[in-house]
Amino acid sequence: MLALVILILQFHSVVSPGAVNSITFELNDGVPSYRVERLGRPVILSSALGFEIQGQRPLDRGFRVVTATSTGFDETWEQPWGEQRLIRNHYNELRVTLQETAARPRTLIVVFRAYDDGVAFRYEFPTQPNLGAFTITNEKTEFALTGDHTTWSIDGYQWNRFEYYFEERPVSVLDTVHTPITMRTADDLYMSFHEAALIDYSTMTLENIGGNRLKANLMPWADGTLVKTQAPSVTPWRTVQLSDTPGGLITSYLILNLNEPSKIEDTSWIEPGKYVGIWWEMHLDKATWGSGPKHGATTENAKKYIDFAAANGFDQVLVEGWNLGWEGDWYRDGAVFDFTTPYPDFDLFGVAAYAKEKGVKLMGHHETSATILHYEAQMDSAFALYHSLGVTAVKMGYVGHGREIKWINDKGEVQREWHHGQHMVRHHQAVTELAAKYGITLNVHEGVKDTGLRRTWPNLMTREVAIGQEYNAWGAAKGNPPNHLLNVVFTRSLAGPFDYTPGVLDLFFEEWRPENRVKHTLAKELSLYVTIYSPLQMAADLPENYPKYPQAFQFIKDMKTDWDETLVLNGSIGEYVTIARKTRGDDEWFIGSMTAETGRALDVPLHFLTPGATYTAQIYRDGDKADWRTAPYDFVVEERDVDATTVLTMRLAPGGGQAVRLVRK
Ligand code: NOJ
Repeated sequence: MLALVILILQFHSVVSPGAVNSITFELNDGVPSYRVERLGRPVILSSALGFEIQGQRPLDRGFRVVTATSTGFDETWEQPWGEQRLIRNHYNELRVTLQETAARPRTLIVVFRAYDDGVAFRYEFPTQPNLGAFTITNEKTEFALTGDHTTWSIDGYQWNRFEYYFEERPVSVLDTVHTPITMRTADDLYMSFHEAALIDYSTMTLENIGGNRLKANLMPWADGTLVKTQAPSVTPWRTVQLSDTPGGLITSYLILNLNEPSKIEDTSWIEPGKYVGIWWEMHLDKATWGSGPKHGATTENAKKYIDFAAANGFDQVLVEGWNLGWEGDWYRDGAVFDFTTPYPDFDLFGVAAYAKEKGVKLMGHHETSATILHYEAQMDSAFALYHSLGVTAVKMGYVGHGREIKWINDKGEVQREWHHGQHMVRHHQAVTELAAKYGITLNVHEGVKDTGLRRTWPNLMTREVAIGQEYNAWGAAKGNPPNHLLNVVFTRSLAGPFDYTPGVLDLFFEEWRPENRVKHTLAKELSLYVTIYSPLQMAADLPENYPKYPQAFQFIKDMKTDWDETLVLNGSIGEYVTIARKTRGDDEWFIGSMTAETGRALDVPLHFLTPGATYTAQIYRDGDKADWRTAPYDFVVEERDVDATTVLTMRLAPGGGQAVRLVRK
């Protein structure tokens, strides 16, 4: 009897290099599963693996292990730009090759990686006689949790894509949620479930299947299938980041490590930086994207922004509404857009030449309104045009209902796809590669969530794909709630850079949108430049507003966007966070600290400064009466000398924040 049990149960484990996390593969009577432990305590209980495939028997049982091999890997690589220059990719890998025992057997490989900051696995479908082109109808991957953990996430299958406020809820009430989803266990372990290297596959959401178990739920094609593929192929990595502190999730680079190294050899043209643009005035309704008396993208206005950028050290000027097609219902039908013809009152070539003369670059804009067929027919010439004008960054827009991406199948039938199904994952990949060919970086709004592809395609710099600043202008909540960004830092931002577009210093918009406002203090708005990472950071306010806040504007002008190092000094999900970043190449640090509705005083030791060196701390803080409700503009700027032994007490008002620049003396 014992011998029989041994025969049908097989285990293979892999432990992370520092013996922190382990993942165990199990084959039980031919059925594969895995489980995860951290320092001896269960984190994920025995969970299903495998697939259902259209027209074939399921690929989830009847297996034998052909080989199970373990290897180690340890390499430190350099990001061409980023929040951390050097990243250590240190893991142990277990590669399990499974083969069916039935006639005409198929082979499935499961690759597990154990890191000290989490675990990951993916499936590989190698070239084989019995599996060619195939269609996945169910990915059976499960995550069996050890309890009804507290989670922070947004729901999947929503018409407004990823643009919802994050909610704190127990696992048991979840339906189907997007990743990353962040969790806290009763015994204070922090976890983030996500995916890495999402290429030619459908986006994964997680579905609550009861009993604290979540299951992969892939965004379907219009025909109801999930993924169309052909061996050899691989799935994205299914990732679980693990940390004893919430901040440890922020400084985990597991998602980037699981992506392939850069496919762009010379990345010197890819530049982080700051931009301004003809943008906020449209969101406030002061100007229009389309032609007419309020047209924002006129030659004259663009030159005004270029002058402003040149005078204040901004690298790029975004111009939205420059091309024909914005009249009428563009957000319902992007077939109106012409991506190479400017409006008559916008002299594209003249403006580009003027920018060049002033040492500023234009940031291009392609709002596709998710009318992909129409856009794809023009995108090569559209990127070529920008390239010829010296434009090296384009902001992309995919406004539109989450399930309305139209294409025509072989039978001539109109298909309507999700914004983040395999169809759109393919589209975004094609755009990224085309942009790279033209030496153009991307800032993607309303696209697919980030899964670390910036490592492989460093021109895919930043994205919105969340509720950004614009909701303060017109959102139904009349302004983002004070805890929004405190959730974002520990959820959405774990996926990658976020073009939130900070820098709105005029916190009320009486003239244009009297009911809306920015629901935090001026100091907190500044802190976002540090806390919400993006290699491209906007100063989003109207240029005429900045002279009203000269001190705050000075911080934005001094701010950097490329870092050697990122440290999370404290944090609690949805409540507060303090992040320090060291400027790339210089001994200069920036600290951003922010809180939700509750005011607090946080002691922040500056132990990370160079020992023995003195720095001038330029402190931009909430004034003593500051409160996001009653006195959001109460703001103090002061300077003091600090060193590595200093402990800064950061007093954050309700809905407040603090931004500090540390310059070596
Ligand atoms: C939505 C984007 O998020 C916003 O930044 C842009 O201005 C509009 N679409 C128009 O493209």
